[in-house]
Amino acid sequence: MSEFLAQPAPQAPPPGRVAYVNARLLDPASGRDEKGALLTDGRKIADLGPRLFNDGAPEGVEVVDCGGHCLAPGLIDMHVHLREPGHEHKETLATGSAAAAAGGVTTMACMPNTNPVIDDIALVHFIERRARETAIVRIHAIAAITKGLGGVELTEMGMLAEAGAVGFSDDGLPVSSSLVMRRALSYATTFGALVIQHAEDPTLSACGCMNEGETATRLGLAGIPNASESIIVERDIRLAEITGGRYHVAHISTAEAVDAVRRAKARGLPVTAEAAPHHFALNDSAIGDYLTFAKMAPPLRDEDSRRAVVEGLKDGAIDVIATDHAPHDQDSKRLPFAQAANGIVGLETLLPLALELYHNRHMALLDVLAAMTARPAALLGLDVGRLAKGAPADLVLFDLDRPWRIDVDRFHSKSRNSPFDGRPVQGHALRTVVGGRTVFRRDD
Ligand code: DOR
Repeated sequence: MSEFLAQPAPQAPPPGRVAYVNARLLDPASGRDEKGALLTDGRKIADLGPRLFNDGAPEGVEVVDCGGHCLAPGLIDMHVHLREPGHEHKETLATGSAAAAAGGVTTMACMPNTNPVIDDIALVHFIERRARETAIVRIHAIAAITKGLGGVELTEMGMLAEAGAVGFSDDGLPVSSSLVMRRALSYATTFGALVIQHAEDPTLSACGCMNEGETATRLGLAGIPNASESIIVERDIRLAEITGGRYHVAHISTAEAVDAVRRAKARGLPVTAEAAPHHFALNDSAIGDYLTFAKMAPPLRDEDSRRAVVEGLKDGAIDVIATDHAPHDQDSKRLPFAQAANGIVGLETLLPLALELYHNRHMALLDVLAAMTARPAALLGLDVGRLAKGAPADLVLFDLDRPWRIDVDRFHSKSRNSPFDGRPVQGHALRTVVGGRTVFRRDD
């Protein structure tokens, strides 16, 4: 059994003091990994450390015994599609936030490919208001780079940033024109905004629907070559160099693009990247017998690229793990492979899939967590993602080793499109705290 313990209630009084005792405190921002306790007071972290409450918690404080489990900053997912407004039958801010809370995610940034597109300050305000009224985790809007995602006319990025947009992207579609991308990066420098690219050359992808290679040939499906991604990444890096704009590659999937980002970083360019769990946990063989739940953009790649994404996360070429949570209903997925919608849900599988990098001894635990806390917070300029006195009390308590099996029927998202159904994993969120208030608790 699990429970959602908070309703969105903007006017609710701040929560009382809560002592989290008997915890393994994990804070990637400071390198802290030690046994101890943490005190929240209202919406903030009041104190933490190995000696806190050694003589017992003070009177009048609610005590949560963490049972020795990991207490970390709540996860930040900087790439989700919440489908509101326009496609509420697939997801809403409310259902997406329930899925997030169940997955240990306390902050999300939602992509603008909604209907209408988030390309106007009224839409940024709409997301903020709906989040306040209906969501139990924090939600920030990413606004479009071009009006209507048309790839031609830039949005009013300055005004959108002022209204609260935390980044800019036409995700779902690339900014194909070099000129438009140059102008976007240049414009973004005036207010330090992050420009997030869905890196794909549509002329090379053409009518491809999966990775180009052996599996596509065997299945008789048209392929998308690695170069479709890496050509755009290489081009954009050059544009970031001449403009000084902050450039971020969304859902990086190919060995060549990872290497391009690595080289750009070595040259000191303002270039960053994120990888989605499916691109390091699966390769294109997961499509098996035309499984449309394994169809997404960019597609699952071959084993060499999957390993390159793992290497990129290990050596820091890739900064962030983000889900690209892309809910779709049955009607959009129960179609011949070439016609099915792109995307998989990810909020409720993020933590255990990311922890595979730790359990498989690829990465240290704090490094895995940094990619989902301190680093996305820094990229989006958000004051969350760390365990520190005075910081917002956004927390996830998780059992690092607990074995379980992913079961899409138990998802809280409105959609079930995941290729991970039935996968045995290790590590589960037990409790999620947003602004000092427990919003989710897993009791089973
Ligand atoms: O697989 C994907 N689905 N990739 C994207 O870039 C867009 C997303 C969606 O909106 O469904």
